[in-house]
Amino acid sequence: MSAHYLFLTTSTREPGHLGNTEWLAREAAAALPEGTRQTWHALARMALPPFVDQRHTTGTYAPPEGDMKTLLDATLAATDIVFVSPVYWYSIPSPLKTYLDHWSAWMRVPGLAFKEPMAAKTLRLVTTSGDRAKAQPMIDSVQLCAQFLHMRWGGALWGKGGPPGSVQNDTQALQAAQGFLSGTAA
Ligand SMILES: Cc1cc2nc3c(=O)[nH]c(=O)nc-3n(C[C@H](O)[C@H](O)[C@H](O)COP(=O)(O)O)c2cc1C
Repeated sequence: MSAHYLFLTTSTREPGHLGNTEWLAREAAAALPEGTRQTWHALARMALPPFVDQRHTTGTYAPPEGDMKTLLDATLAATDIVFVSPVYWYSIPSPLKTYLDHWSAWMRVPGLAFKEPMAAKTLRLVTTSGDRAKAQPMIDSVQLCAQFLHMRWGGALWGKGGPPGSVQNDTQALQAAQGFLSGTAA
């Protein structure tokens, strides 16, 4: 299977305002070998139904529909999944949390192989926040999610955020972005 990167952007900035995290992720994506397949979805612009915990009642879930089906299909089609997620309250923004909660449903859709194909994928995180130390709990949390599904952890790329345009001044982040997705980052 040739490389296919799925970028899930999760900033909740208003349409037309490119955030720091997506800007940094696009820098990293531009350094991928030419022709590498990329799919981008903006979770905050999608209709994501709230997750309902049915594990100990019906125990199963119907196959997802609408935008959730789009996301399931994109998730399974990818070899590499990149969460493009700013730090919100030491954690991930709610659209990404909702998407992740639905992984618990996708593990329980009769006839759907989810866990096994996920274990063949790599998960990475591109993030920005006011300072690096405050991003650590969120980075650890995303890494643990990868471990839970036996995914390869490709690491986190962090940049100093703030108002749009801030991360452009973080020269260390810009340098690290160059090899981040191909695994050659320092
Ligand atoms: C709801 C909310 C919560 C935030 N929480 C934190 C935080 O806990 N720690 C931090 O350093 N920055 C925090 N920030 C700042 C953002 O992480 C920072 O501005 C980031 O660069 C925004 O990413 P974006 O430009 O891609 O939208 C928060 C911002 C928002 C909107």
